[in-house]
Amino acid sequence: MLNMKYYSLNEINSWERFYRANFINSLSGFKPVSLISTLHKSGLPNLAVFSNIVHLGADPALIGFINRPRQAAPHTITNIENSGVYTINHVHPSFVAKAHQTSAKYAEGVSEFEEVGLTPEYNDGIEVPFVLESSVKYALSLSEIIPLKENGTFLVIGKLTHAYVLPSIVEQDGFIDLSKAESMVSLGIDGYTTTGSISRFDYAKP
Ligand SMILES: Cc1cc2nc3c(=O)[nH]c(=O)nc-3n(C[C@H](O)[C@H](O)[C@H](O)COP(=O)(O)O)c2cc1C
Repeated sequence: MLNMKYYSLNEINSWERFYRANFINSLSGFKPVSLISTLHKSGLPNLAVFSNIVHLGADPALIGFINRPRQAAPHTITNIENSGVYTINHVHPSFVAKAHQTSAKYAEGVSEFEEVGLTPEYNDGIEVPFVLESSVKYALSLSEIIPLKENGTFLVIGKLTHAYVLPSIVEQDGFIDLSKAESMVSLGIDGYTTTGSISRFDYAKP
């Protein structure tokens, strides 16, 4: 604990809101960052960057993400409620600035694919596009949306229906080396980085 500073909750609560948001968003660590693609009822796609994405179970394969309160981020959650289908696409350094730009508050019914210059890719009859530029991507069907009482956010849970991954990064035992794909992670609200070499260990026993 040498040289560490204790930040009391009183002090944290006294900070200006963006300073507090940067600090708290960094505290829980690096997060997977992806573009979530959905379909507006007009048929136009919507694309937004999300980093609060979490594995919930492998059988059935369930993946969740946190959507902010409706008034702050209305489009992705509404489109998922309407169509029940969405895709999640990893972000790579070649288009990270475009991915970040999708967080801007574009009007309802505007396609962020067009606004930021990413390419919609329609695969295997799935009505919602993937991001062509992404080399790890998957489609989900809505399972459940759980409102979180404390802060008005939502845990959106999806069941995996389709996965697309470069076979060269899938190892013999199924482990996907996302470092090789240069899948990015995010830190805080606006930090992005790639990862280094990965250490793997044997199944731990007591
Ligand atoms: C790096 C980064 C990560 C983000 N992660 C989330 C997230 O996990 N959940 C969320 O609701 N918004 C997140 N946002 C904000 C959304 O991208 C932003 O609110 C977007 O406009 C939502 O668009 P929508 O209304 O089209 O769904 C993030 C923004 C950035 C820059």
